[in-house]
Amino acid sequence: MDSIRIEGGRPLYGAIHVGGAKNAALKLMCAALLTDQPLVLERVPRLADIRTLEVLLAQHGVDIKVEDAANPQGQRLILQAGEITSTTAPYDLVRRMRASVLVLGPLVARCGTADVSLPGGCAIGARPVNLHIEGLRALGAEIDIEGGYIRARAPKGLTGAIVRFPFVSVGATENLLMAATLAKGETVLENAAREPEIGDLAHCLVKMGAEIEGIGTDRLRILGKPSLGGAAHKVMADRIEGGTYALAAAIAGGKVELIDLPAEHLGAMIDALRRAGVTVEANGTGTIVRRENNRISGVDVITEPYPGFPTDLQAQFMTLMTIAEGAAMVTETIFENRFMHVPELARMGANITVHHASALVRGVPKLKGAPVMATDLRASVSLVLAGLAAEGETVVSRVYHLDRGYERVEEKLSACGARIERIAA
Ligand code: UD1
Repeated sequence: MDSIRIEGGRPLYGAIHVGGAKNAALKLMCAALLTDQPLVLERVPRLADIRTLEVLLAQHGVDIKVEDAANPQGQRLILQAGEITSTTAPYDLVRRMRASVLVLGPLVARCGTADVSLPGGCAIGARPVNLHIEGLRALGAEIDIEGGYIRARAPKGLTGAIVRFPFVSVGATENLLMAATLAKGETVLENAAREPEIGDLAHCLVKMGAEIEGIGTDRLRILGKPSLGGAAHKVMADRIEGGTYALAAAIAGGKVELIDLPAEHLGAMIDALRRAGVTVEANGTGTIVRRENNRISGVDVITEPYPGFPTDLQAQFMTLMTIAEGAAMVTETIFENRFMHVPELARMGANITVHHASALVRGVPKLKGAPVMATDLRASVSLVLAGLAAEGETVVSRVYHLDRGYERVEEKLSACGARIERIAA
């Protein structure tokens, strides 16, 4: 397994281009299952998770062409599910990536049958899919769990209904949204997640012929159609990748222009960065993030569903707080086990005490380089950020987690002056 070696202590100066959003692209690719016509997606990032989903979709019978593979701004995928040849999503593929469960809604809506492996737990928590299942049942699907598989049947098709989610779930909102586009009559999703990636999916579904009201709100109203058509859609820019590089500039110091940063989707994080003493300013093409001589101040954050502070930036923000003047409380409310970066950061000299869902971070003047291990996607990039700020050498091992969500991370950072390289296993 590859690792990443970083020689820390160098500020970042330069520009970084933010790529297409992984968490939007994955759902958009699943939407291709809703129609027999081609769906053209632009600015799809080249990531391990995207390739995993390509394999899964291909085994359902989706024809996938990759164009513009070398374009640094992202590739173009042309997906066509002319005929669905298999409605089974096997364990072997689903367990590699939880987002695979997003084929469930489209498959049962279009084919009336789907057998999708339960994704199982993952490092950051149990992550059940009960809301996906209960929502599809409300739309008339009969669902049994058998042999580790969700077996969904709706031989006469799905029927619209009012679904009120007991709490906010991004994936359940997306699964139900896609399923409802082909259900008979009207579906209303209440207490729906409002993450911008859901808006991106909804806008693409509208281009495919779906009728959706309330995009961007917590109440989505969908009028089902007998079929959807093809469309072309450019994937939104990745707010989490962009936010991560903003935090990289903050922790390493220096001045970085983030081209295409979707700052409008990062309000909570930008607000926290400014309170920490980092300058964030819009310019013509993107956003400048700058910290030149001042030290970071401690700022408390609590993760929440959008528009709150994103859980996917919690580990990176906590890393910034490790070098703050004063203390910061970081509270995680979305996932129950998302502090696995803490012991690794402690190996680098961070002073962090975890109590239930909160981590009290007492800032230290400097982190020190160390060998550390990545445990999940966002935790692994937080260790890279720690390495940028640390004195001496940091080696982050098990970087396959990083490759699931960050494209060419070492290239993007070294172009801004970081000493970072990948060591092939
Ligand atoms: C998505 C994102 C992930 C992000 C998360 C929260 C993708 C591919 N992943 O994950 O990066 O961290 O949103 O912003 O887009 N839950 C249940 N039952 C369910 C569904 C969820 O109990 O049926 C729980 C989960 O365990 C978690 C919480 O609800 O504690 C939120 O999860 P959810 O919003 O569904 O996250 P994902 O869609 O899996």
